[in-house]
Amino acid sequence: MNTFYLTTPIYYVNDKPHIGHAYTTILADVLTRFHRNAGEDTFFLTGLDEHGQKVQQAAEKRNVAPKDHCDEMAPRFLELWDKLHIQNDDFIRTTEPRHVKVVQDILQQVYDNGDIYEDEYEGLYSVSEERFITEKEAESGEFRDIKKLKEKNYFFKMSKYQQALIDHINDNPKFIQPDHRKNEVLGFLKQPLGDLCISRPKTRLNWGIELPFDSDYVTYVWFDALINYITAPGYNVEDANFNKYWPANYHLIGKDILTTHSVYWPTMLMSAKLPLPQGIFAHGWWLGGESKMSKSLGNVVDPLGLIEEYGVDPVRYYLMREMVLGQDASFTMESFIKRYNSDLANDFGNLLSRVSNLLQKFYDGKIPAIEDDSPEGISVKENGIQVIEDVWRQIESMRVNEAIETTLQFIRSVNKYMETMAPWKLAKTDSEAGGKVLFTAAEALRVSALLLAPVMPHRTQTVLETLGASDSSLEWGGLTAGAELKTHGALFPRIDVKKLEKESKADQQKEEPDNVITFDEFQSVELKTAKVLEVEKVDGADKLLKLQIEVGDEKRQIISGIAQHYSPEDLVDKMIVVVANLKPATIFGIESHGMLLAAKKGKDLTLITIDGDKVASGMRIY
Ligand code: MSP
Repeated sequence: MNTFYLTTPIYYVNDKPHIGHAYTTILADVLTRFHRNAGEDTFFLTGLDEHGQKVQQAAEKRNVAPKDHCDEMAPRFLELWDKLHIQNDDFIRTTEPRHVKVVQDILQQVYDNGDIYEDEYEGLYSVSEERFITEKEAESGEFRDIKKLKEKNYFFKMSKYQQALIDHINDNPKFIQPDHRKNEVLGFLKQPLGDLCISRPKTRLNWGIELPFDSDYVTYVWFDALINYITAPGYNVEDANFNKYWPANYHLIGKDILTTHSVYWPTMLMSAKLPLPQGIFAHGWWLGGESKMSKSLGNVVDPLGLIEEYGVDPVRYYLMREMVLGQDASFTMESFIKRYNSDLANDFGNLLSRVSNLLQKFYDGKIPAIEDDSPEGISVKENGIQVIEDVWRQIESMRVNEAIETTLQFIRSVNKYMETMAPWKLAKTDSEAGGKVLFTAAEALRVSALLLAPVMPHRTQTVLETLGASDSSLEWGGLTAGAELKTHGALFPRIDVKKLEKESKADQQKEEPDNVITFDEFQSVELKTAKVLEVEKVDGADKLLKLQIEVGDEKRQIISGIAQHYSPEDLVDKMIVVVANLKPATIFGIESHGMLLAAKKGKDLTLITIDGDKVASGMRIY
């Protein structure tokens, strides 16, 4: 039996799930369902990337241990997958022992091969990117938190495999898709490839997998994360399915993580003497998806918010139909409604309600005896057989949006067939002929529902139930004469644009004031108690005072415009409240690191102070 192993990136748990995560996972789900329905033995893997600096920082920000943070975030992803009707076969978390073991096995193997060496490195390090960057990159202004760092580290001899990788890409034209991404990687490989720093000293970062050959270091998060793709099918586990599924058919990724997947990962596998994945497919980005959600028409919205309102299937449909795989796409409410109303409500939903209503009305609510053998009927049948083949070919070559459009065109042609044959008239004048037409149209609907089932698993099930179709084989002719129809409400109730416009106007009128913030936004402001140690006036500035304060173990200086309300002596020893994580600023040429809180009305200003036996400096205020 053919196997089909498909992966999504494993997602960082520093953030709650968003459209980027949802999109790739739905895409993987749709592709896997197609392959599963075609009788292949499928394995669909998704999961979480839980180590590294980003996750450690996110946990620190929330004042929880990194593992606890991950344990809290993981269910959020699982809940979303459930809601989106994702049928993954495995869900890997990189903190699981099965993964830690494989990472250490691979590291040891690569080390024993002589592909890992130790070196002292001095360079510019970007804290936000968690990597050393070049001078040129530092100058580009695209990197934050840059500092000079000198460190002993372990390096993977990636450069050794540069030529082998170039040859592999050239010999396997489908290895990196789409083509423009392949060319991007080949362009990148024209420059000499450096070696990859794969360790982080525990003094700097300890949230990671320990190197098996030096316990003072943890593994670089990407070296750890990429290995998940072989952990899950059971690398180095006896009796597991590793050889059955690996190499994966595709790693689905976003365009931003192309280099790690098509340069780091294949060279790592070459060193570990493992086969490379068959394909790496980079999709584009949804633009505007994360912008402010707004109900008004035409505005950018959060697609996940639409699920509540219109159901999961239409949102899955839209995401799959609208994005040309490999290119960017924008999500707008306007285009969502357009697609929904025209493809789903008008074309698909309407065909079903017409056919089922006529069968209920004139044919006892049962599938008639035989199909239509008129030239028009034969043409629908031939077309249907062709469409089954075309859709599969398009899916195999990762053209999901085209496969959907092929099915929709077929549905539109069946609607035309209905217009031409007018079975509602025939039912009265020539009942047998009318029955034949409805049989053929119902069979076309059955086939269309099966072709769209991977995209809309639930609503297409309703179509099959409505038609009393128990045969789910994707071949023309599965309807049973005499099968009883079931009645259901409208499959895709039309979105009433006028009503929506009215509602959105009303909404805008009673909209929350602009100054409302979310709980998470509030949480991101770190308010802390601070003790005032020394205060002096700032020369040449009437309004400013320079305060030396203590925030827990830390000493800081802040500049504050309160000189006209307080004299330095008033303030010493007071316990005040400061915004501790405010970006440092230079005021009047002096560095100010934080901001104090005060209440103000007109010209009156009162400092916020706290008394109490249990109050110490550095306490977080919630
Ligand atoms: N943890 C790494 C992947 C390791 S795989 C061994 C990572 N995680 S991520 O959570 O930051 O991103 C996951 C995916 O979401 C990436 O493929 C990225 O391209 C995708 N997206 C994030 N925002 C997106 C959109 N707006 N649109 C589509 N996908 C985008 O990177």
